[in-house]
Amino acid sequence: MSQVFIVANLKSYKIESEAKKWLEEFLEIKSYESKFENKKIIICPSFTLLPLFSSFVKENSLLVELGAQNVSPFDEGAYTGEVNARQLKDYCNYVLVGHSERRNNFNETEQLLGKKTELALKYQLMPIFCIQNNNNDIPQGVNIVAYEPTFAIGSGNPDTPENADLISSSVNSKENKYNILYGGSVNSGNVGSFTKMPNISGVLIGGESLNAKEFIEIIKNA
Ligand code: PGA
Repeated sequence: MSQVFIVANLKSYKIESEAKKWLEEFLEIKSYESKFENKKIIICPSFTLLPLFSSFVKENSLLVELGAQNVSPFDEGAYTGEVNARQLKDYCNYVLVGHSERRNNFNETEQLLGKKTELALKYQLMPIFCIQNNNNDIPQGVNIVAYEPTFAIGSGNPDTPENADLISSSVNSKENKYNILYGGSVNSGNVGSFTKMPNISGVLIGGESLNAKEFIEIIKNA
């Protein structure tokens, strides 16, 4: 059975007390874990919450990995306010790069995303590289790509599984073979229609992952 990636992007939500509540609710996952052997669950909280998530995952031996939502395009140094890949590696193994909310709100260019990817890889942080269509460049060394059409993000209006599959196969028919995830208005009702497609290796979930119980339902149905 091939591996299915289920990635939660908690975006810029939750203070520590809310994150603790989320984690306590998410603990219910323990009762299903034996059935989830082929599922790779990756949770991406805000920087401020990564230490909490990391300790909780270790203390409870959860079969879950963590990711950051952003990484500095610079290595460590005099870059006030930045969080670099080496610092992140203390807490997580993955990082989202190229999310449309960053490309659009923070003017992240393909050149900048290339630098972020390079530094992530230097410190063994696996980039989950987001593209919005099949014309976006994918930097070298990327293994996991998330196809997230902007119209589908947070809109309740997902792409069709057939179109998402088509885009995924066209991305993969270039030189490289990637694990391609679909993201955009995924919920527990529609997740299975995406993960069953031959060219889709998993899903990236925003809004619906903010509720731990709903996230567990998504994992079950993926
Ligand atoms: P959404 O967001 O699930 O809320 O549509 C997906 C994402 O932005 O990664």
